[in-house]
Amino acid sequence: MKTKDWYVTTPIYYANSQPHIGSAYTTLAADIIARYYRAKLGKENVYFQVGTDEHGQKIAETAKKNGKEPKEFLDKLVPTFKKAWKSLNIDYDVFIRTTDPRHVKVASNLLQKIYDKGYIYKDVYEGLYCVGCESYITKKELVNERCPLHPNEEPRQQKERNYFFKLSDFAPKILDLIQENQVEILPAHRKKEIANRIKDGVEDISISRESVQWGIPIPWDKKQKSTLWVWIEALINYYSATQLENDKNRFWPADLHLVGKDILWFHTVVWFSLLLAADLPLPKTVFGHGFFTIDGQKISKSLGNVIAPAEFVKRYGMDGARFLIITAAPFGDDGDIKTEELDTKYNANLANGLGNLVTRVAGMAKNAGLKVEKGKKREISTKVSEAIKRFELNIALELIWKKIKEADILINDREVWALEGDEQKGVLTNLVGDIRQVATDLKPFLPETAEKILKTYEGPEIKAVKPLFPRIS
Ligand code: MSP
Repeated sequence: MKTKDWYVTTPIYYANSQPHIGSAYTTLAADIIARYYRAKLGKENVYFQVGTDEHGQKIAETAKKNGKEPKEFLDKLVPTFKKAWKSLNIDYDVFIRTTDPRHVKVASNLLQKIYDKGYIYKDVYEGLYCVGCESYITKKELVNERCPLHPNEEPRQQKERNYFFKLSDFAPKILDLIQENQVEILPAHRKKEIANRIKDGVEDISISRESVQWGIPIPWDKKQKSTLWVWIEALINYYSATQLENDKNRFWPADLHLVGKDILWFHTVVWFSLLLAADLPLPKTVFGHGFFTIDGQKISKSLGNVIAPAEFVKRYGMDGARFLIITAAPFGDDGDIKTEELDTKYNANLANGLGNLVTRVAGMAKNAGLKVEKGKKREISTKVSEAIKRFELNIALELIWKKIKEADILINDREVWALEGDEQKGVLTNLVGDIRQVATDLKPFLPETAEKILKTYEGPEIKAVKPLFPRIS
């Protein structure tokens, strides 16, 4: 029965280089949450968007460096994103590319509407521009004369005649909406940061680029060679993803925009203001998760520590990779992947923890000739469900692993393998129930493994099972 439509989004990643496990982190978290809501509301009532950000200076310059036209370059690169998401079993509903003419049309119409309402004006802007961020940067934000997020790039001085959006008109309203929790910004400390930044003062923003050809033309000024600032049209992707097919418009507004903390300002103040200006409803929640480093270092091509999702999948399997990526940081906080500890983490939690429990109990059940009731459809347990709803993905996993540990302890304390007759069958029947519950709770996180376990433990007889996660030595 349909109770409600549910729409979750991920950032659209710059298609100037291949995806890595940092970009996979947000996408995987969104997949976990989408799977959870699909189980709860029905597949057809959930919409999950992913995509690529394909305009702007950064893409144009990278394509040029590779001796290609932007579109040609993108058409070769974008499939690597699709492949990466497939390798991680990311089950998205729509992959939006900002070069898709349908997106271009929606973005142009939306900006035209905002222009017609008088929220856009022309002015000259002079300032420093960080190509890495695709945004202007103030002197105040510089660290050692560079953008703190892109210390390898020199910000460029730019002076342009641009169109400006009256962001400052909307700031007080946004502050009220945030403070009254009419739009939710999570985690709470990030909401505070955004509110404080608004209180510090919000200036109008330039929304066109005179010097950038690779972008969407300004809809109301075809004479000028300017294009829309890439960030402005990129944000609109969340809305255009609901306008591609007729029956998808019911999904707007989004229930959850999942983003990294680096782009929370754009996804709150800038995006909310554009929506208000266009008379569109605001999203319900924006969650800004933390960043993880690898061995204490920022993930960066120049440091050579970029790990492709495929590398993880090759070593740890699809669900092993999902587990290691999602546990890279407590969801919402920063974290660090220690490459030396990855094998140990995999062995401890998956090969020995979950995998061993599943094979061990199946073996004992088979030897005992146990017959159990056929598995009924189960629901995700309340505590795990509550944690996922609060986006506490790490806590949900901790709860599941607590169950696994308790089952292990019970097996050893009661020496279940040495028990006999009805006593042994009784204990094993309870363990089968626990394992079925663990598998059900794991469905959003490790979908393939959960299915395998539930098949093994379907009953009435329990089948033998090959190790789910071969030990890595
Ligand atoms: N194109 C913009 C987003 C536009 S959305 C309308 C962009 N792209 S990006 O390719 O730079 O991706 C940034 C996002 O990637 C972060 O917000 C975060 O979701 C994810 N991450 C990239 N590296 C990450 C980590 N090291 N750790 C966690 N998330 C990371 O910004």
